Amino acid sequence: MSAMILNGKDLSVIIREQLKNEVEQMVKEGVRPGLAVVLVGDDPASKIYVNNKKKACEQVGIQSFQYFLEESTKEEVLLDLIVELNNDSSVHGILVQLPLPDHISEKKVIESIDPKKDVDCFHPMNTGKLFTGSPVFLPCTPAGCMELLKLTGVKPEGKECVVVGRSNIVGKPMAVLLLRENGTVTVAHSRTKNLKEVTKRADILVVAVGKAHFITEDMVKPGAVVLDVGMNRLDNGKLAGDVDFENVQHIATAITPVPGGVGPMTITMLLKNTVTAAKNQ
Ligand code: GUN
Repeated sequence: MSAMILNGKDLSVIIREQLKNEVEQMVKEGVRPGLAVVLVGDDPASKIYVNNKKKACEQVGIQSFQYFLEESTKEEVLLDLIVELNNDSSVHGILVQLPLPDHISEKKVIESIDPKKDVDCFHPMNTGKLFTGSPVFLPCTPAGCMELLKLTGVKPEGKECVVVGRSNIVGKPMAVLLLRENGTVTVAHSRTKNLKEVTKRADILVVAVGKAHFITEDMVKPGAVVLDVGMNRLDNGKLAGDVDFENVQHIATAITPVPGGVGPMTITMLLKNTVTAAKNQ
């Protein structure tokens, strides 16, 4: 058996084309959506992500504003910049690339972003709305996973859904999105006992642990849909997911590749949230 490969690049092309049309319409009506992206420090991976976000904005006609701050930037300087961006009417979305240097509180930074401009959906106001069932924004990576899942025709309703990883960015909100679609959701993590037994139950398996090839064939139920959020740089410079794609693809019904699966969809959902934010402002 060979799995359906869930191509996030191709799906992104289709969704970005729709967004481009929406943006053109908004520009005709006098508003060009704008996204500010802030990077503190010079982590090479973060730089690549930030540049990819800029390119994606340009593709669909969103104005992008980039801020590169030195690693040594004081927390108050970053907070002042966010206040400025909160008050700038040409900026509809604000994204501060994580992780931040240790001397800066991520919590303080996230909470300083105007919730109306929080296109990452990280602010407690927005996560709260998501948890209580009336979201304004959907968190980008989990929303991208749900779009890829739709391609399979497999609906979470009544199914065993296992999320491996419990981060605020991916694991926790992913569980909520699956729950919204009536999945039976288990969140597994580094302290989970008998992880293999848990992952093997999954009809839908989402993996976000940040360890290359962590999920092996023996941990996957034959016929499962496998969504791989991992982006791990190997010693040979190649990018690898959290799932051992080569072997798991033979038993899964559908699987995302890395690169070209969830990654492009995350950015696409960011563009979508930016358009939503501009419409709401
Ligand atoms: N770092 C890794 N993923 C993300 C993301 O989705 N948003 C932000 N702001 N930082 C990240």
